[in-house]
Order: sequence, then C-alpha cells, then structure tokens
Amino acid sequence: MGRWSKDACLRYCSPTPKIILFGVGFILLAGIVKIFEIFTSEVFRLLRIDIIVDFRLVIAILLIVAYIMGLIAIIEKITRSDERDISYSIINRLCAYNKGNPLNLKDGELEPVIRVNKSDKGYKITVECQSAKFDDVSNLETVISDCLRNKYGNYAVVSKEEDIAGRYVDYYIEDVVTSYNKQSVYNSLNDVPTDLTKIYIRDDVYIDYSKVLNSSAVIAGRSRSGKTTAIISTFLLPILKQGRDNFNSKVIIVDPKSAELSLCPFVLSPDTNGSVEHILEAIRDFNNIRIERQQIVNEFCISKGKAIKWFDVGMKPCILFLDEFVSIQDMFPKKASKEKPNYSLTDFQGVLRQIATQGASAGCFLILSTAEASVGTGGLESAVNNACGIRILFKPSLDEARYLWSTEKLAVMRERQYVAGDAWFSADDGINNSVRFVKFPRLEFGEYEALSELLTLYYG
Ligand SMILES: Nc1ncnc2c1ncn2[C@@H]1O[C@H](COP(=O)(O)OP(=O)(O)O)[C@@H](O)[C@H]1O
Ligand SMILES: [Mg+2]
Repeated sequence: MGRWSKDACLRYCSPTPKIILFGVGFILLAGIVKIFEIFTSEVFRLLRIDIIVDFRLVIAILLIVAYIMGLIAIIEKITRSDERDISYSIINRLCAYNKGNPLNLKDGELEPVIRVNKSDKGYKITVECQSAKFDDVSNLETVISDCLRNKYGNYAVVSKEEDIAGRYVDYYIEDVVTSYNKQSVYNSLNDVPTDLTKIYIRDDVYIDYSKVLNSSAVIAGRSRSGKTTAIISTFLLPILKQGRDNFNSKVIIVDPKSAELSLCPFVLSPDTNGSVEHILEAIRDFNNIRIERQQIVNEFCISKGKAIKWFDVGMKPCILFLDEFVSIQDMFPKKASKEKPNYSLTDFQGVLRQIATQGASAGCFLILSTAEASVGTGGLESAVNNACGIRILFKPSLDEARYLWSTEKLAVMRERQYVAGDAWFSADDGINNSVRFVKFPRLEFGEYEALSELLTLYYG
C-alpha cells in the first residue's frame, strides 16, 4: 500500500505506457550517442587527429533493447489476465489526479487497494481505502462502470455489497449488453422448463423456492407491461405441468377484472352481481389445505427426527394467484353483514395474511399482481408486504421502484426504454437478493389455450 500523490500520474498507469516510455528512453539515448559520435568525429577531423569514432555497436544495442521493450510491452498486454487488466483501469480511474480523484484523496494518504476476482457471471471488484471516507468508497458504481472500456466496454456494475464492518465494498460487474438482450423464447408448451422448486425466468436466471426466506411474490407494473403473461409463463405453466401431488395440491387463479384469464376453466372471477364470496371460500379452502399439508410435513419431521421440507415428502408447489390485487380488495364488503358474518374485507385479509406468512413451509405460495407499485408500501398490509420476498416490477421506473425496494438497493439501477416483459426483480433466495434487470420469456404459442389445457388436465 503506497502513499497517494497528486503528481504521480504515471504510477497509476498500466505497465504498457511505462514499458514503452522506457523503450523510448533507449531510442533517445541511441540518438544522443549518435549525435555525440558525429560531433566528436567532426572535432577530431578539424583537429586533424586520426581517430575513428564508431559507436555503431552501442547504438545497435540500444536500439535492440528499445525494440525488445516494445515487444515486452506487447506481450505483457496480450498475456495480461482479465483480472489484472480490470484492476489497472480501476486504479487509474481512482488514483490518477487528472481523472477526477473520486475518493477525494490528499497527498500522503494511503492509496486504495483493489482486488479483482472472477464471479459467477462476471467479476467481483473489492475496493478498500483506509484513507477515504466510506461514503466515497461505496459510491463508485458509476465511476467503475464508466472506466471499463474496450474489451470490458459492455461491462457495468450490477450490484454491490458493503462490508458490515465498513472496511471495503464489493462491486459486481457483468456484461450487461449481452445479458440485457437475453430472453428465453418458448415455441410450445414443451419448451417451458419445469423444476420442483425452481422458477426459471431465463435458462441462467431462476428463483429457488427451496431457498427463499419470504416466498410470496408481488408483481407490479402498469397495464400491459407483461405481468399476467410472465406469471403464466414462469409460474403457472411450469407448476401445472408437474400435475397434482398426493397431498391435495391446488393452483387457484383469481381474475377480478374478468379479463382474458377468466376465459380459462377453473379461473375464479366475481359473479355477475359483483359478489366475490365464492372467491373467499376458495381462498379459505386453499388455506385449509395449507394447514393439512403443514401437519403432514410436521408429522414427517417428528417421525424422521429432523427438519423435512415439503419437497422432500413428494409435495408439489401450490399457488394462489390473485391478478390485479387492488381490484379484488375493492370488491369485498368493508363490513360483514348479519347474514354473512364471515364475508368481509377483514376476513379476506386475515386468510391472505396466514397464507402469505405461513404458506412457504407447506409449499403454498401467494402471488399478487398489481398495476400500482405503491401497494408495495400503502395498499398491502405490512405483514403481507414483508412476506413478499419475491418482487418484480415490469416496465420499471425509478419512481415506482422506490415503493418496492430501498434506495440503497436501487443505487445501481438505471432507467431505460423498456418493452412488455422487461422487468427489475429480486428474491431473497441468496442468489437474486440484489435488484437486477431481466427479460421474461417470450411465448410463441397461445398461453391462455395452454393454460386452459393444463388446468383441465390438473383438475380432470
Ligand atoms: N415477455 C414478453 N415478451 C414479449 N411480449 C410480451 C411479454 N409479456 C407480455 N408481452 C406483450 O404485452 C401484452 C400485455 O401483456 P400482459 O401480460 O397482459 O400485461 P399486464 O398483465 O401487465 O396488463 C401481451 O399481450 C404481449 O403482447
Ligand atoms: Mg394482466
């Protein structure tokens, strides 16, 4: 760890200019020798001294050394590891004074330490600087993304992690341009990947239900941003494809707006008179099944004497999907009547809270979709909101995203022009904890027909 100096700009360069400069020094030296040779020859000639001055060998050696330096510079550049290459760019950007001094270093202070390691999808850059303020060290995402050029021009910071003790910050960089355009395309139902616990968004991006801490999902996005399509392609089709288990598994779909979904069999919509009592009944039924399944899991745990998970005993995921959640809330009577004491918004919210907070251990998952991202704070009960560890925002804007994630989590996110199916998402499964961009699958077949077909098979 050296001391930082405002004037030591060469110190913070990669070896290439340093070696080249060294080589140029030898060429200059050869030139000086040559001039000296001409000068002394001329002097001797004028003084009629008969000595031949010949420095050709020295000059040749100097030029060969310069040439070798050039060669070394090229070889060093070609064989340099990606990790070292990236670290040179970053050191230069952080330390060279003419680059803006983002760490606000002063002469004599300790230089930052940069470590670059390969990560899953790109590189992890650890920045540690004892002399700089931690705020400066943890605000480098734009600076780092910006200094990656040429071979790494497509790379940018996608997430960062601050050391709990405030010593260093890890920045994760990835090829965002290539990754940005990646999207699964399913030409038929056969292409839809299915896994007992994993929800695939892309072949390399999935949410692991066996690892999520809070497994309910809130899926937000304005109208026609791709919410329903995404839930069908990534949650419903894959889970329905697995068929039912022997533990009364259920997939309940509620379409309060009686839109496209309601044309599929077994999808629940309000009655023509606007009643949603039967929907509440179905949700209660779902909750009862959850309780039964939980008991079964518990019995397994007791008999085996260790923690057993729903997927260990042959259970398949159960889904309660409430599309356009805000509209369905509005349809419940605010207060129960004397005739129907158990039919009110409070009853609905009560069951929902139980499912959201206790469903995961029985493999019962809640998915809420909403056009208003603000439910992330206002419209959702805090217990349900907290249970939503899976958060997806379609055609996102930062303003909407702030309802779903903390400012800190959004620090690396930049708004772009988005199309339907483009989303920011996170899940607290240990893999997708930081918010990131992803394109949901494009379906080249009738998703509603496929859904109808599978629902009929599932309940048939
Ligand atoms: N992943 C996607 N890729 C391409 N187009 C999509 C995708 N998802 C949705 N779309 C298009 O956007 C339209 C609206 O999607 P939909 O899921 O109904 O939106 P929402 O439920 O948010 O109102 C769809 O009819 C489809 O044409
Ligand atoms: Mg929809």
